[in-house]
Amino acid sequence: MDIDSYIAGLPKAELHMHIEGSLEPEMMFSLARRNGVQIPFANVEALRAAYDFSRLQDFLDIYYQGAAALRTEEDFHDLALAYFDRAAADGVVHSEIFFDPQTHTARGLPFKVAADGLLAGMAAAEAKHGLTSKLILCFLRHLPEADAFATLEAAEPWLDRIVGVGLDSSELGHPPEDFTRVFAAAGALGLKRVAHAGEEGPPDYVYQALDRLDIDRLDHGNRSLEDDALVARLAKQHMTLTVCPLSNLKLCVVRDLAEHPIARMLRLGLRATVNSDDPAYFGGYINDNFRAVAPLLGRDELTTLARNSLLGSFLPAQDIARHIAAIDAYVAGTDAS
Ligand code: ADE
Ligand code: ZN
Repeated sequence: MDIDSYIAGLPKAELHMHIEGSLEPEMMFSLARRNGVQIPFANVEALRAAYDFSRLQDFLDIYYQGAAALRTEEDFHDLALAYFDRAAADGVVHSEIFFDPQTHTARGLPFKVAADGLLAGMAAAEAKHGLTSKLILCFLRHLPEADAFATLEAAEPWLDRIVGVGLDSSELGHPPEDFTRVFAAAGALGLKRVAHAGEEGPPDYVYQALDRLDIDRLDHGNRSLEDDALVARLAKQHMTLTVCPLSNLKLCVVRDLAEHPIARMLRLGLRATVNSDDPAYFGGYINDNFRAVAPLLGRDELTTLARNSLLGSFLPAQDIARHIAAIDAYVAGTDAS
């Protein structure tokens, strides 16, 4: 079996995917039309041509503009289901999706619109594909911690359907330690904690995410590799890193996929996973990301990435065991063929 077919059939989880970042230009224009919203681009081609980024902020400026097309629960439902259709076709059995409520409440949408719309899309995907999912509420780090607290308060009626909180948006100049209190409050409410750190920010931001935010998972984490003691610590505590190869290429975190650190991460004993981040903006869904790094890895390492994705998920242990058994069966079946 060739490597692309092997990747396609491999059961996997996705742990780092911003649902607003799965808004394809075609859907952005059709939602904008449906909602009477103006998009500052003439057409789909002009919009795609603008997806030429040299740093995270270039992308974020366009990503927040694009989210303005989303206005109703139905929009969020349709957005989520379109992503889950793509994910299911890529062999994703479970996905833990991020959403940015502040991007929507700042435009006057009640918290309920995004939350209930996404939850409806998640239920539809489970019924349609058997694909399970969880929802992670991200705080925007370019806004003050007080706004994050207000968001956590607005989320209160939904907290039984939200697995955890995350930290995203502009990393440089917005260190994790600025969100120490709101992460502690989220932890006290029984929520898991994840944070983007070490995408553009230094290893110190990763230490802060560990020591101040008490994270359960590290989003990106690339720059951890600059600090051997940090790598040893992450490996020792089996910290899951949600790595996003095509995102790293598009945002110039790496110059070339041949230099992508995923192979080094695995060989250093880090629990790395592969994810799409913002697939509509970065040129591909999860299997595109697996294929992008496949030349750097052996087949066993591709399988390790899939196993890591289940081990790093927030699923109950028995569900993780069931999915790992399916990966083992897949490997045994493909060895025989
Ligand atoms: N929001 C959406 N994608 C992001 C990324 N890769 N880093 C930080 N914030 C984001
Ligand atoms: Zn991200």
